[in-house]
Order: sequence, then structure tokens, then C-alpha cells
Amino acid sequence: MCGIIGFAGRDEAAPFLLDGLARMEYRGYDSAGIAVRSETLGLQVNKTKGRLQVLSDLIHGGADMKGNLGIGHTRWATHGEPNDINAHPHVSEDGKIALVHNGIIENYAEIKEQLMKYGVKFQSETDSEVVAQLLGYHYKECGSMLEAVGRVLRRIEGAYALGIICADYPNTLIAARKDSPLVLGYSEKGNFIASDVTAIIKHTRDVVYMDDGEIAILTPDSIDVFDDEMNLQSKEHSVIDWDVSAAEKGGYPHFMLKEIYEQPEAIRKTLSPRIREGKLVLDDFHMSKEYLQEISRIFIVACGSSYHVGMVSKYNWERMLRRPVEVCLASEFRYSDPLVDDKTLVIFISQSGETLDTMAALRESKRLGGRTLAIVNVVGSSIAREADDVLYTWAGPEIAVATTKAYSTQLVLMDLIGLYLADLLGTVSKEEYQTILQAVEALPEQMEAELKGLENVSYFASRYFNHDSIFFIGRNLDYAMGLEGSLKLKEISYIHSEAYASGELKHGTISLIEPGTLVVALGTYGPLFDKAMSNVVEVKARGAEVLALTVEEQLEKMQKVADSVVVVPGTHPVVQPSLGILPLQLFAYYVALQRGCDIDKPRNLAKSVTVE
Ligand code: F6R
Repeated sequence: MCGIIGFAGRDEAAPFLLDGLARMEYRGYDSAGIAVRSETLGLQVNKTKGRLQVLSDLIHGGADMKGNLGIGHTRWATHGEPNDINAHPHVSEDGKIALVHNGIIENYAEIKEQLMKYGVKFQSETDSEVVAQLLGYHYKECGSMLEAVGRVLRRIEGAYALGIICADYPNTLIAARKDSPLVLGYSEKGNFIASDVTAIIKHTRDVVYMDDGEIAILTPDSIDVFDDEMNLQSKEHSVIDWDVSAAEKGGYPHFMLKEIYEQPEAIRKTLSPRIREGKLVLDDFHMSKEYLQEISRIFIVACGSSYHVGMVSKYNWERMLRRPVEVCLASEFRYSDPLVDDKTLVIFISQSGETLDTMAALRESKRLGGRTLAIVNVVGSSIAREADDVLYTWAGPEIAVATTKAYSTQLVLMDLIGLYLADLLGTVSKEEYQTILQAVEALPEQMEAELKGLENVSYFASRYFNHDSIFFIGRNLDYAMGLEGSLKLKEISYIHSEAYASGELKHGTISLIEPGTLVVALGTYGPLFDKAMSNVVEVKARGAEVLALTVEEQLEKMQKVADSVVVVPGTHPVVQPSLGILPLQLFAYYVALQRGCDIDKPRNLAKSVTVE
């Protein structure tokens, strides 16, 4: 979603801002802008609808904007359509203050009405401009930026990350955060704010994560962080341990393809610190057998692909733990008066660690006394910091909007946790424990070999890319995996697609199958293969074109029915989806490629969804 960058330094700010915004393009946006301050030219603001390149061309790569203090923004429209005026930065009426904002100001309408009564004139339809104008109003009244910011923060409700500069303050960048991420970066060239470390990793690895309610004052030489009562805070520094190349394409045409091929390595990194001498060691997760025995309910809560990981885990965990596991969409869970108490374990899965619905569900669970565990990829993100326990998926930065490597690392990490809990509870035999663990450990190598042999997927994509409706069917873990395969396809290729539990088809959806309809039949789950096959026969009988996925062992049977077959390596059923998902990701990628879609930045989507 929206991206913020800010710089208070010794060099020209505009090139830093443009570069930072370019590194956040993947988050999804529809307009962009920057504001820079110089002694001679005062505040200069340029903003425009469309791609960042349009803005960059407008200001000749930044050369037209002078000054070493500035803020920049990429906007993903919520209040008001994407156009030049609604783009950020927003400027106070007197032209002195420029501001960028991520999040939503819930009480903006009443503040706007009040300011209009005082004669303030608004340019845009945004909630963000209200903050800029309110700031301008208070600044005029009290003459101190800090005092004005304090007054504004006490008045506004909702979520915000703010970057503010003022024409009267030559070297000062002010930042504030509540429920929307903001990180502070320290460098030789000056100091930064950013909503995403990707924006500043080229310049610094030394960062501080702002907490809710905090205000930061940056100059080229210092950063001071205050709480909401202006008490100076002593903040812990973090070191970003991934390299800038991790956020670059490295010869691949798209981030998504690069990230698909990075999966074996990402899984290796997620597994290796957690398996020692044939035993699972979850150093960062502490739960005693006694405590676990007292737990009466387990929820897995997430959105989108992370929710799909939860679906796979439900099947696997119930089988391993012999106790009910409920998977919930975070957006539903938070408003469903959930049955959470001090005997409930609630697990939150999130790549970004910033998804608003997941965050809100986490807070609700904590309020109700539940024990919370977060499975997160982004270190230092809000969900990671607020949960009782956190286990990181070490997938590295994921830039493509459509998740691949984060999904895969979540999947194996959930397998590990399930197995760990089952071992603790004594619900898996020693042999089964070892067999599953060995299957998990073998995954990176199996995936590497598998990826080398999946060339036929691009051929199938070229054969099927012009279908306008596609069904994914499968049973049990294949169904859970189909949900993700279908989502991948629809989000980047814009083809209508649905995933169905095979046995459920004949209860309605089969009426949509007509001669030529493409059905992707998933038959990798051994225990129910024959049942799944009978559903493939059913759709074939209605004229469907079937592209099937199966394991070597079942190839012959599948070939007799399906029109095309992709083979994946076989493994223990618990970890089979980790191998099954690769061709589905590649299929979505190549179909989108054939259709000429913007693969890394699909329309209307954002990488981290920080609004409801
Ligand atoms: C799909 C995708 C989304 C996310 C969802 C949750 O490819 O990426 O469906 O999975 O928005 O995001 P996180 O995991 O960041 O909470």
C-alpha cells in the first residue's frame, strides 16, 4: 500500500526520495509525490498520478528540486480517486508545511468541517490533507511545530504514519506513528524515515522501529524519539541482515519468478536453525507440555495466502495433534466475538506483519486473554512485536505482490510447529516424528530438482492462457493447496478462478462445467487419490479439459483420464503441498506472462494491506 520516505541530510534530498520510492513500488500505488525544502526556494512540491517514472520525468530525476530535507510518498487511493491533487505530499494553506501520511484518519470529516468553518480551504478529497491543514492551523496559532504536532496527534483518530517538514525549520523532519509502520534509518549521509526498510537498505542497515504513539525528530546528525507525552525514549537499534541485492531482480525478468526460484534456499534458512541432530529446536517458542495440555482451543488466523497456509495446517495439525484446529479469516474473526480465553492458543500468520485485519484480530485475542503466537516474515513488524511469541520465516524480502516464497516458508514452519507440539503432547509416534522431520529436511533439495524439471508448465500456460474461467479441484491437502493455486492465478492473470473441494462440486458448481472448461485437478494427496480421480472423471464426462497434477506413483492412472499432466516429486503427505505448490505458482506466472499482465504489480493490489 502507500509508501513513505523522508530524508534529513547533507546531500540533495530528491534523488534519495525518488530512489526510496522506486524501491517501494512493489507495494502497489497509483500516484506519487515529493516535497523538498531549501533555504532559497522554500518548499517545493511535485506530485502526479500514475507511475513514479512520470514524476521522475517531471522533475528531471530530481534535478529540478533543491534542498537536503524532504519527504516522498506513493499513494494507494482510499479517500478520493487517484489523481494529481489527491496525491501526497499535502500542504497547509499557507504553503509552509508539507506532509505525507499512511493509514486512515477516521474522524477526518468532522475536523474538515470545523476547519472549513474557520475558513480553511481544501484542495483534495483526502483524509490526509485534513492533517496537513490542521497542523497549519495550530502552527499559525502557537508558532511551534512540535507543539502543533502534539495538538494534532491528540485530535486525530485512526491509523497513521506521518512525515512532516516545514519551510521555517531548515533541518528538521518530524515523524509520528500509530498503527502504521515507520522505521528510522541512521546513515553517514543523513537520517531517514521509511514505511518499509526496503526503501533505505541501500544507505543503511542501522535502524530503529518506531512504536505506536511515538514522535521522532530527525536532523542530519541526530534522531530523537519521544513518547506521546514528549518524554525522550531510549530505543533499541536493529541491524538489517539482508543485502540490497535481495530486493533486486538479479537477472530475472520479474521478482515473482526470482522469488519462486528462491524458495529452496528460503526454506533452508527457515529450517536450518530449527533442526539439530534429528530433533526440532524452537528456541524462540516456549510452551510446556503442561500448558499445552491445558489449551482447549487452537485458532489459526490470517488473510489471503497466509490463510491458505492455515488451511493446510488445519488438516496437518488435526491429524498430528488429535485436537480441533479452527482456521479463521482475520477480517471475520475480529468481529465474530471469538471464543478466546486464557486456554486458547491463537496463531497469526502474516508475511508483512502489518496486515491490519490480522493485527486487529491479534489485539482482540490478547484482550480476551488468549496466548498469541505470530508467524511473520518481516522482522520488527507490528504483529511480530505485539504477539506473545514470534517465529520468523526467513524468506528474506518478498517484493512481488503475489506471495510465493513467504507462503512456502510459512508452510514448512507451520509443519515444524505442528510436529513440535505433537511431539510434546505425545500424539505422534517416534517413528512418525522422524519420518515427517526427514521429509521436511529433504524439501530444499527436492524443490531444487523439481524446479529444474518443470519446463512443461510454461508450455501448458501457453496452451491454456486464453481460458476465461478455471476451476481448481482437489481433496483434503490438495483442496487447501488448490485455494492458493487459484488465488495466484486470479491475482496476477485476472482470470476468474475458483478452488473447490472435489467432493463438493456436484452440490452446485458442477453446473458451470461445460465442454472446454479448464479444470486443474490436484491429485497429489495419496490417501484420497482414488476418490479424487472419480471427481476428475465426473468433470471429464461433462466435457472439461483437465490439466492434472500428481506424483510419479499415480502418473499412469492420471494419464488415462487427464488431458495434460504435471508430475511433482512424492513425499510424506504432510509436506506434499510444499512440492505441489511450485507448478501452480509457475502456471499462474506463465499464464500472466502470456496475457501481458503487470506480474509484479497486479492491478488494485497492494503488498501489505494496512486498511480494512
Ligand atoms: C496473495 C497475497 C495476499 C496476502 C494477504 C496477507 O499473493 O500475498 O493474499 O497473503 O494480503 O498478507 P500478510 O501475509 O502480509 O498478512
